[in-house]
Amino acid sequence: MKKVNVAVLCSGGGTNLQAILDSAAAGNIPSGKIALVVSDNAQAYALERAKRAGVAAAVVDKKDIPDRGERERKILALLKEHDIGLVVLAGFMTILSAAFTREYEMRMINVHPSLIPSFCGPGFYGLKVHEAALARGVKVTGATVHYVNEVCDGGPIIAQRAVYVEEGDTPETLQKRVMREAEWIILPQAVETVCKKLQSEKA
Ligand code: GAR
Repeated sequence: MKKVNVAVLCSGGGTNLQAILDSAAAGNIPSGKIALVVSDNAQAYALERAKRAGVAAAVVDKKDIPDRGERERKILALLKEHDIGLVVLAGFMTILSAAFTREYEMRMINVHPSLIPSFCGPGFYGLKVHEAALARGVKVTGATVHYVNEVCDGGPIIAQRAVYVEEGDTPETLQKRVMREAEWIILPQAVETVCKKLQSEKA
């Protein structure tokens, strides 16, 4: 069966992209092919990771194209050009418009660094999520992978994994643990799960 072409959209370090690339290299994403990386930040280390893995990479930089609509049209054109069947938001720090999310309805997923519905929605991204979790004093947090729809962090949940908060945690130490113990595990697994589902729908 033909593999589903996967695009990963990133804005920064790209450790979740790396987890997907490593999982694919280990043979754990047999239903998908990581075909494209798109960054909205030309400085993103994710681009270097794509290059090292021999994956096509494109930049649609916020600084060069401040208009979100124009950036989205460019990204959509790239996705079409590479025949992308699944879009993965892995640390992509722009909220996408409804026009964009509709194009990939149930074919776009996102990883979020908390147990949704806690600490999610507009304004909750990156370290801010962990700052909020620590400020609230939760004892358990984690990560969620969900489908992307027009509601920020509001689409159907695919996978979640819990992580304990430890005494003395800082936003940085908590972020690292949530990545290591949750995000880097459930995101590659979800990529395979959704690619397999998309393949079977096509068959
Ligand atoms: C990850 O923790 C990801 O869950 C989060 O940003 C980080 C990106 O790290 N995403 C969001 O907060 C989206 N709302 P990475 O670039 O090293 O994968």
